[in-house]
Amino acid sequence: MDQCGVHVELSPRDPKRTLCFPQRPFYGIGGRGLAYQLARILIKYKRATSALHPGTLASFLASQFSVRVLSFQKTIIMRLSTLVAAFAAASFHEAAARLGIRQDNLPAAIENENTIALQGVLDNIGPDGSHAPGAAAGAIVASPSTEDPDYFFTWTRDAALTTKMLIDELIHGNTNLRSHIQDYLRAQAILQTVSNPSGALSSGRGLGEPKYYLNLTRFNGPWGRPQRDGPALRATALITYARYLLATGQSDDASEAKDKVWPVVQNDLNYVAQYWNSTGFDLWEEVSGSSFFATAVQHRALVEGSALGKSLGVNSTAAYDSQAPNILCFLQTFWNGQYVVANINTQSGFSRTGIDANTVLTSIATFDPEAPCSDALFQPCSSRALSNLKAYIDSFRTIYTINHNTTNSSGVATGRYAEDVYYGGNPWYLTTLAVAEQIYDAVQRWNADSCITITSLDLPFWQSLSPSAVVGSHSGYVFTSLRDAALKYADAFVATALKYTPSSGALAEQYSRENGTAISARDLTWSYASFVTMRSARLAATSNYEQVPSWGSSSGNTVPDVCIASSVPGVYTPAVAAGAPPGSGGCTVLVTFNVNATTYFGEDIYLSGSGSDLGNWNPSDALSGSAINYSADRPLWSFTVELPANSTLGYRYLRKESDGSYLYETSNRTLAVAPCASGDTATVEDAWVGPVGVPPN
Ligand code: NOJ
Ligand code: NOJ
Repeated sequence: MDQCGVHVELSPRDPKRTLCFPQRPFYGIGGRGLAYQLARILIKYKRATSALHPGTLASFLASQFSVRVLSFQKTIIMRLSTLVAAFAAASFHEAAARLGIRQDNLPAAIENENTIALQGVLDNIGPDGSHAPGAAAGAIVASPSTEDPDYFFTWTRDAALTTKMLIDELIHGNTNLRSHIQDYLRAQAILQTVSNPSGALSSGRGLGEPKYYLNLTRFNGPWGRPQRDGPALRATALITYARYLLATGQSDDASEAKDKVWPVVQNDLNYVAQYWNSTGFDLWEEVSGSSFFATAVQHRALVEGSALGKSLGVNSTAAYDSQAPNILCFLQTFWNGQYVVANINTQSGFSRTGIDANTVLTSIATFDPEAPCSDALFQPCSSRALSNLKAYIDSFRTIYTINHNTTNSSGVATGRYAEDVYYGGNPWYLTTLAVAEQIYDAVQRWNADSCITITSLDLPFWQSLSPSAVVGSHSGYVFTSLRDAALKYADAFVATALKYTPSSGALAEQYSRENGTAISARDLTWSYASFVTMRSARLAATSNYEQVPSWGSSSGNTVPDVCIASSVPGVYTPAVAAGAPPGSGGCTVLVTFNVNATTYFGEDIYLSGSGSDLGNWNPSDALSGSAINYSADRPLWSFTVELPANSTLGYRYLRKESDGSYLYETSNRTLAVAPCASGDTATVEDAWVGPVGVPPN
């Protein structure tokens, strides 16, 4: 068996003139169309055999050859005129490249930053990362910044997106990364079993917890929780790893996929099938509602998870198959005809345009190189995603000082959403790079099709980068010039991010809207990861660099006529073979503590007690209460916590004063948590006993 993915045969037949493409020729040497690629091959071929002038060569070829491309099953006969025309273009580009006509050295700058970015990620991974002191093996630090802001925690989302990048790099041949991925798997198997303020493993709820301490213990402080994108993103990363393992053909790898990876993935998929239709906090940890990003990544996870389950021969994918179409149906409801509304079903009083990087990050997180430019899946090249992208980019053109003096076709700095005030509401590196990545992803698809279809919906996007663009399906030179305009536009966003990157190459979370200096968390792992994924997407758009693997979206792209809001209760089991503690993940009871405690504005009530669930009597690990139902008639503070069944706990309430000090209840309370069989919820009614606080003057 030879290794050719595609043979190209020049006739008259001559074995020496059969060219072999090892892989994916359609995606492009130089990212051009097939004819262009062939022409370049021919140039190389002729260069080796004679010193013909390229122009002479074109006519020589035209007189001598017809070119046949023998693909897997189909034979494509190219019109010679197409080839000759493409040949001229290729000759021009080659000549331009030789003469150094490029105005900038962006590719070199990208390679340079990519090395820094990948190292920046590795520095933030425990146990050995130089910026991750004390972090457990496989715990991925969000940022080494321990104050203003304190990001010295591990977030499920950041860690999963980062690990997906590492897995894609592993697939590209960076085998050194495998041990980090295995450490991540182990750390996540442990974290799945850690009960936390979102809940426990036994009910699945605990999987929605957004962040943990770096020693893999629970964080009890107040936070926007649960966040339901985390389990789906973790599943996607690990499914990609499992498929890589299955493809090596090694039996050890196949067992790793089935015995270690799958049990972790299965818990996460069960979570998605059970909770996708429940509200939660968005990826920016601010909005309670339904997040487009969360919904889309949930859909992807169930589709690819079902396929993986089937190929592993596990008999438990029915819930994924039944829920994926419902999620896809729901996903359509975020579209408002012009752009994607990032959050719907939001908390009362919430008011924003809904234009948000959430949606651009979705396009790149759910990119499938084998998917058509489908609107239903909001693929990067779809009309919807392009229309949305323009709305997103434009929302930052006037609000950031550093974007002034740019034109409609310039790359600009972009942030989370225009109304953002976090650290003053600045552009973020990872969102600016996401714009570029969406376009590079789209270009990969257009190259594969050798065609760009402009619709009335995405026409404004196209006109902003190519004023003469018109509605229709474009091939040939119009295609090439549109595609090149898109690449140039994407490059301009990368150039913007690089322009505001300090010379060390360090990527923080944000850069100032006023002057572009780095702001907020330093060395943000997700910023670095976003650079690496952008760079891969660019290479795949402009060379024959291998694309990210397909997630099999063709088996999950049909939108049902009727949306069904449903849920399939799951079973959750500690992934012991992957490293979860044996005996963990036991049965729990969901206990609500209601306490009447009159407080002044600025004073908060906490719940402290024995056992890690209640913070081991440590006030700084006490649970924060909710005053959502507090009224003058009933000064109610409540806490809902999953506690181990059949256990006895001591507890008391605390007041946290506005100056940060604590006042303790004088009574010592105990609670006997019922055994499992007696049902899984309980309510405790208490009234504060002890000193009361005095409001500051
Ligand atoms: C508000 C920010 O917008 C959010 O993204 C962040 O995670 C939290 N505060 C906590 O720092
Ligand atoms: C704040 C961001 O808004 C959130 O998405 C991220 O997970 C955390 N910071 C940690 O990086």
